[in-house]
Formats: sequence, C-alpha cells, structure tokens
Amino acid sequence: MNLSDLRRDFGQQNERLIWPENPFPLFEKWLNDAIEKPVQEANALILSTVGKDLKPSSRVVLLKEFSEAEGFVFYTDYNSHKGQDLKNNPYAAIIFYWNLLERQIRIEGKVGKISRKRSKAYFNSRPLESRLSAYVSPQSQPIESLENLQQLREDLINSEQEITCPEHWGGYALFPSKIEFWQGGANRLHHRMEYTQTGDKWMKQMLAP
Ligand SMILES: Cc1cc2nc3c(=O)[nH]c(=O)nc-3n(C[C@H](O)[C@H](O)[C@H](O)COP(=O)(O)O)c2cc1C
Repeated sequence: MNLSDLRRDFGQQNERLIWPENPFPLFEKWLNDAIEKPVQEANALILSTVGKDLKPSSRVVLLKEFSEAEGFVFYTDYNSHKGQDLKNNPYAAIIFYWNLLERQIRIEGKVGKISRKRSKAYFNSRPLESRLSAYVSPQSQPIESLENLQQLREDLINSEQEITCPEHWGGYALFPSKIEFWQGGANRLHHRMEYTQTGDKWMKQMLAP
C-alpha cells in the first residue's frame, strides 16, 4: 500500500456557490444535497470534545434535529466518555464530510443538554431494539462481554417492564459560534467560507484553502 500515491482531483461539482448572509439555509441545502445524492448516513457527524485532562477525543454520532434557535441536536448516554467531557467542558467541534459531494462543514460552539421532555419524546420514538440497548448498555464503560448485555436485554423483554427513557440518556444541542463550509476546488484551490457569530448577526469571510 502506498498512501502517498492516493490522491484525487477535486472540483468535479460545477454548481455555482452562493453564500447567503445566514449559514443555516446553506447548511440545510448541503445536508439535503447529501441525502439526495445519496450519501449513506448523510446525518453522521464527527463530534470532538475535550475533557478535564485537556485531551481531545472524537467519535461519530447522528444529527437528529437542527435549527438556529435549537442548535445541532444529537442523542447519547450522558455518562459516556463524551458526556463526561461535556460536563467538564461544554465547548465542542463537529464535522460533516460528504465525500461524494467534495464537501466538509466544520462547526464549533457550546453544548448543552436539551429538555428532558424532548429527550423522552425522541427516546419513545425510537424502535424497541434501540431503546433496549440504550437501557442496558453503560456506554463507554469496560464490560466482560456482549453476552451479558444480551442477557440483560432478554431479561428486560421477559419482564415486560415499560422501557422508558433512562435518566442518563438524552439529547445535547450544540449552539454554533463558527460554521465553515468547504467545497473541493480544482488544483487544490478549494472554497472556504467561514461564518462567525457576532451578536445576533453572522459575519462571513473567505479563507485561503
Ligand atoms: C454511523 C455511526 C453512528 C453513530 N451514532 C451514534 C449516536 O447517535 N449516539 C451515540 O451515542 N453513539 C453513536 N455512535 C457510536 C459512537 O461513535 C461512539 O462509539 C459512542 O457514542 C461512544 O463514544 P464515547 O465513548 O466517546 O462517548 C455511532 C457510530 C457510528 C459509526
């Protein structure tokens, strides 16, 4: 394998780029373009957090809702590694990368828990299989084997207990202070537009690739 020979020419997307004043409609358009392409798991994002030890840590989660008022929402276990990090340091960065569209969006901001009511409503909308796993899996904790968790799932099914949203499970919303759009360009001259929030407005500036 020779990784140094692996390269591709960008700039295959010919769509004329228009940069609106507000980044949210553009985010929505790019996400829609990815869904329609179709890019698999177009709503997958990489979330980076930094906890008490100041060491960054990244993982994939799924975007479930977004708006300027409500932020970028994902769901997880509040006791997980990312949950611990966010408890100690609410600042995080997320990235979407849509390979087929030669596009990346980088977002930075502050994260907070969404309301219990919304978390419960989303939890109850999930298929039983997903709810059971969230219930029995102490996310990010060391375990002996998956069989133990499978057994716990079965016990739970047999008990006919109602599977309600656990206290330690719910949504987070990231409220962005920066959003950067990257579109692959010819000859490595890629397009980068960075939006920075200043008060209730967004300031935009182009960045060198
Ligand atoms: C495509 C994909 C989607 C995922 N979606 C989620 C998700 O929405 N929420 C979640 O907690 N973990 C999700 N995961 C698992 C996380 O990447 C990660 O393994 C888990 O959240 C534990 O991370 P942590 O130990 O850093 O907290 C997903 C993984 C992949 C590959």
